[in-house]
Amino acid sequence: MRMLHSRAALREALSPGPRPVLVPTMGNLHAGHLALVARARELGAPVIASVFVNRLQFGPGEDFDRYPRTLQRDAQLLEQAGCDLLFAPDEAEMYPAPQTFHVRPDPSLAGELEGASRPGHFEGVTTVVLKLLQLVQPAAAVFGKKDYQQLMLIRAMVEQFALPVRIEGLDTVREQDGLALSSRNGYLGPDERVRAPQLARALRELAARARACADLGQLRQAQAEAGQGLRELGWEPDYLSVRRRADLQAPQRPEELRLAAHLVVLGAARLGRTRLIDNLEF
Ligand code: PAF
Repeated sequence: MRMLHSRAALREALSPGPRPVLVPTMGNLHAGHLALVARARELGAPVIASVFVNRLQFGPGEDFDRYPRTLQRDAQLLEQAGCDLLFAPDEAEMYPAPQTFHVRPDPSLAGELEGASRPGHFEGVTTVVLKLLQLVQPAAAVFGKKDYQQLMLIRAMVEQFALPVRIEGLDTVREQDGLALSSRNGYLGPDERVRAPQLARALRELAARARACADLGQLRQAQAEAGQGLRELGWEPDYLSVRRRADLQAPQRPEELRLAAHLVVLGAARLGRTRLIDNLEF
C-alpha cells in the first residue's frame, strides 16, 4: 500500500487508472472502518482510504485537539485490510488557504439532531467530503451507518450537486456487548466502558416501546422517559428520538409506528467527558 500526503502525488497516482472506491476517515481506525474497506474491496476497483482530522467539523470546545492521531497504526491496519492507497494530507495540504467557500446543507436535515447539538458540524463534514470527492474522483464512496444523519446528508449532497459518485452505507459494527465501535470509545475510562452499552440498550428499548405506542403523544412520552432513564444512569443525553428513515423527520401519523423498514431511533449522550452517538433502524 502506498501512503501519499500531497494532492499532486495523489493526482499522479490516480491519473492513468480506473476510478477508485474511497473510504474517507478521520483515522484512529477500528473494525468498523476495516469493514468499510472490506466492502470497498468487494466493489472491484482500487481502494483508497483517506485519513484527515477535519477541523471544520469540530465546534469550539469539542475534541479536535485531543482527537487521536494514530497514522502509522492506521496505515498498518489499512495495508492488512487490502487497501491500495492511503491519502493522508495535513491541514496545509487540505486547506492551503482558509476555506471560505462552504457547502450549506439543507437546514431541515442538517439543523436537526446532531446538527442541533453541534452547530456547523455538517457544514464542515459536507465541505470536506465534497473536497475529498473532488480530489479522488472515486466511482463510489463507503460510509458507516453509525453516523446516520451524516450518511443521509452526503447522499443528499451527491444527489443535489449531481456528483458522479455512488454512496454506499454500511451497517454499524458493534462490540459483543452492543456498544457501537467508535474512535471516541477510546476516551472512556474502564468504568465508563462497562456502562457504555447502556446507550444502545436504551435505543433498543425505545424502538420496542415505539412499536407499541397507540399515538404520537405516547411516543413523545416514551422518548422523554428513555432520556430520563439514561440520565438516572449518569448520562447527559442530547437527544433520543424516533424518526423516519427517509427524511429524518418525526413520524406524523401513529400508523407509521407500525410500518416495516420505515423508522430509525437515534441517540446522542455524554458519559463523563465522552459524547457517544448511536442509532438503530427498526
Ligand atoms: O465520519 C467521519 O469519520 C468523518 O465525518 C468524515 C466523513 C471522514 C469527514 O471528515
